[in-house]
Amino acid sequence: MNVLLSVRAVEKSFGAVRALGPVDVDIRPRERLGLIGPNGSGKTTLINCITGLFPPDAGVIVFKGIDITHEPAYRRARRGLSRSFQIPRPFVGMTVLENLLVPMDYLGKGGGSEEIARADEVLASVGLIARRNDPSEALSQLELRKLELARALVAEPEVLVADEAMAGLSEGEIDDILSLLFRLNESGVAVVMIEHIMHAVMRFSERIICLETGKIIAAGTPSEVADNPLVQKVYFGEQNHR
Ligand SMILES: Nc1ncnc2c1ncn2[C@@H]1O[C@H](COP(=O)(O)OP(=O)(O)O)[C@@H](O)[C@H]1O
Ligand SMILES: [Mg+2]
Repeated sequence: MNVLLSVRAVEKSFGAVRALGPVDVDIRPRERLGLIGPNGSGKTTLINCITGLFPPDAGVIVFKGIDITHEPAYRRARRGLSRSFQIPRPFVGMTVLENLLVPMDYLGKGGGSEEIARADEVLASVGLIARRNDPSEALSQLELRKLELARALVAEPEVLVADEAMAGLSEGEIDDILSLLFRLNESGVAVVMIEHIMHAVMRFSERIICLETGKIIAAGTPSEVADNPLVQKVYFGEQNHR
């Protein structure tokens, strides 16, 4: 099997709380992988370990054949591993365009005319080009989500991890983000979708992994995972009781 990113026996604790693991996950080139699980099940912690916000306590993460377990986030981003954050935190007091130039600078891409052209290309692809010179404070919730994705996309990733990119959006807005992620995937990017909105993650994913208290309790096609009794108990049970 062709593997782009491999996670082996990764574990992470916060004090006495075992947030994650040990877990094994493989991400294949160009795939659409859904990551589900109840609140606090370790989804964001797994992504934080993969993208380098903090190192795991144990385990190994290999990307394109290179051990990146202890690399800082910016180096992983330069290799093609990007993520968007669950809570968008745009740089206030900056325009939409400037919000893209900052991460490009961080990636070592400079701020010349080529970079601006690339940023404009990304803004056009997410539907924000008309907002280019507006302050980020002026954006709607949907536009903030798009800006958050755009900031990940300027790195020209091979893997994009979208952490709850659709939370709080209306059905029409969810469709908007979904088609954006589908288009991105068609252009060759593997997309890992962490999502609570079941119909969206089911529709998007080729394969789904379900976490519960830091462990993988099910993995398979969307229908296999949806039909799994353990998943129904922990996940759909939780949703029904909200
Ligand atoms: N930075 C942190 N410090 C302390 N505890 C954390 C931190 N991040 C996550 N946790 C804990 O780890 C567990 C998993 O959290 P998280 O990965 O955010 O879950 P999910 O994204 O699935 O909702 C939870 O018990 C959470 O409280
Ligand atoms: Mg989370």
